[in-house]
Amino acid sequence: MKPVNVGICGLGTVGSGTFNVLSRNHDMIAAHTGRPISIAHIGARSNPYLCNTREIKFSEDIFQVAYDPDIDILVESIGGCDTARELVLTAIEQGKHVVTANKALIAEHGSTLFTAAKERGVVIAYEASVGGGIPIIKCLREGLSGNRINWLAGIINGTGNYILSEMGDKNRSFNEVLEEAQALGFAEADPTLDIEGTDACHKLTIMASIAFGIPLQFHKAYTEGIGKITPTDIQYAEELGYRIKHLGIARQQAKGIELRVNPALIPANQPIANINGVLNTIVVDADAVGQTMYTGAGAGSEPTASSVVADIIDIARSLSSNTHPVFSLGWSPDITYSSPSILPINEIKSGYYLRLQAEDHPGVMNAITHILSLNNININAMTQKASRKNEVYADIVILTQQVQESVINKAIRDIEQLSDIASPITRIRIEPMV
Ligand code: HSE
Repeated sequence: MKPVNVGICGLGTVGSGTFNVLSRNHDMIAAHTGRPISIAHIGARSNPYLCNTREIKFSEDIFQVAYDPDIDILVESIGGCDTARELVLTAIEQGKHVVTANKALIAEHGSTLFTAAKERGVVIAYEASVGGGIPIIKCLREGLSGNRINWLAGIINGTGNYILSEMGDKNRSFNEVLEEAQALGFAEADPTLDIEGTDACHKLTIMASIAFGIPLQFHKAYTEGIGKITPTDIQYAEELGYRIKHLGIARQQAKGIELRVNPALIPANQPIANINGVLNTIVVDADAVGQTMYTGAGAGSEPTASSVVADIIDIARSLSSNTHPVFSLGWSPDITYSSPSILPINEIKSGYYLRLQAEDHPGVMNAITHILSLNNININAMTQKASRKNEVYADIVILTQQVQESVINKAIRDIEQLSDIASPITRIRIEPMV
């Protein structure tokens, strides 16, 4: 039977994993698909993981793969945006289906690419772009498609989770753990994308579009990184019964959609609070099924390849049965289901963890609580840590009830004006996961 021919562009972490899984599981994949899937062309400048490509057509110019008339499906695993976008558009123009793990590409250019693909009658599959090996796109787009999604929240950057876990459990420094994550191959080539939350924001943007039927709106999402989280905050959070995680959150509110990535205190008894290391987890709260949770390897060569290969199999099956796989984002482009706006961060409501450094003398607590009270902010917990030897300042930790972001920010500014308080005040949102 004529095989489905795949071209792989880029033989780095994702490309080499895809090569290995397709090669190793070739017979089983053929049985799943109903016909063999063959790697027919590789486009790469190098082969750092030494994949055995001897019998396969090899081009240093990746565009040769897009122009190869024998290729049915092009796997884009070069990463980055500009060249990847051009490559995918060329492949579409040439009538190829595309599989990509590139979250930046989908989150920032998905609308253009999906339109081009639809016009040409091909598909772009992108399961691996969110949560690595976790089939979360399929879950949201297909498994949960009968549900109204209330919210979803996830640990969707393995590097960030690894750093926070190691800092908390082993008291290691931020930089030391980051270097290790880079050496282990799950940090982005530019690790600021991990630490500052851009990578998580790309993934959140994609999930939110599928969950709520809204356009991809990466540039409207709010992103806050983990660079300011200290071991002290992790320790204080633990003492209060919380863990600090870097979360991507999308929530349907009456006035619009919350779309934000930020560090958050999660109650320690919530399962997601105990997801450590490089693992990713996404919790989805939906009207019919309630809460479901998806956990697994969010990065790495073969976990990511697992999703890439699943997409290849899906497309190959549809080629065999002459059917069309589900819409790109799972919503019919001809029917506008909803178009709520993205809420500005100032309009969201949250509980807050505040850590203040205060000069340790009478009246300081009173001054702080007076400002909170003037702003109508209710305190859930408040504790002062004994000042350390020879230190002028003592830490005061406050947990507030839910309050609008603009209000807490005003209160923080007012408290920072007090002569007894050192600036800046640390502020971390609290996420109850209910
Ligand atoms: N840098 C990403 C992470 C890799 O750490 O999760 C997968 O997107």
